[in-house]
Amino acid sequence: MKTMYDDLESILLPAEKIAERVKQIGEKISADFAGNPPLIVCILKGSVVFFADLIRAIDLPIQIDFMAATSYGSGTVSSGEVAVVKDLAIDITGKNILLVEDIIDSGRTLVYLKKLLLSRNAASVSIVTLLDKPSRRTEKLVPDYCGFTIPDAFVVGYGLDYAEKYRNMKDIGILAPRIYEKG
Ligand code: IMP
Ligand code: MG
Repeated sequence: MKTMYDDLESILLPAEKIAERVKQIGEKISADFAGNPPLIVCILKGSVVFFADLIRAIDLPIQIDFMAATSYGSGTVSSGEVAVVKDLAIDITGKNILLVEDIIDSGRTLVYLKKLLLSRNAASVSIVTLLDKPSRRTEKLVPDYCGFTIPDAFVVGYGLDYAEKYRNMKDIGILAPRIYEKG
């Protein structure tokens, strides 16, 4: 039987390794924000799996909300334009925000969102990303918390998609180039 895993070149991060790292990040955030629980914002859709695991690894009375931005279309290269396609429901004035991202590539999405939330008078905006591809950065942006620094490859699974597929894979894998290269 054909599975989603047949479309991978290799598995980069198995579920167990991700779980171990998420637990560590949750403990660090719990210590850093003790006495000052943040509003934790899930950037849809890619972060949803990481977000669900991360908030349960944080032992503080946090609040949550959701937001969606797009810069990609359906390909593997960013279009450069960022747009908010779903906005927050909670008033963020004076709040300490922790943005949860699946992966930072060019950095455009987060630079845009951070500026936007600060312009709405958030007290602070911190960033936690599961994955970082610093070799592809075009903006000056360093996350406050990062799960794994990875090489310049297109990855899917654990929330990350290619053309809206593979989000439900429990491991993170490198997508085989034949899947997105025509010919
Ligand atoms: P940035 O604005 O270029 O930093 O793009 C960040 C967004 O691009 C992420 O939130 C993902 O949605 C998407 N993205 C970047 N690299 C990958 C990848 O390797 N796999 C899946 N999505 C990716
Ligand atoms: Mg994303």
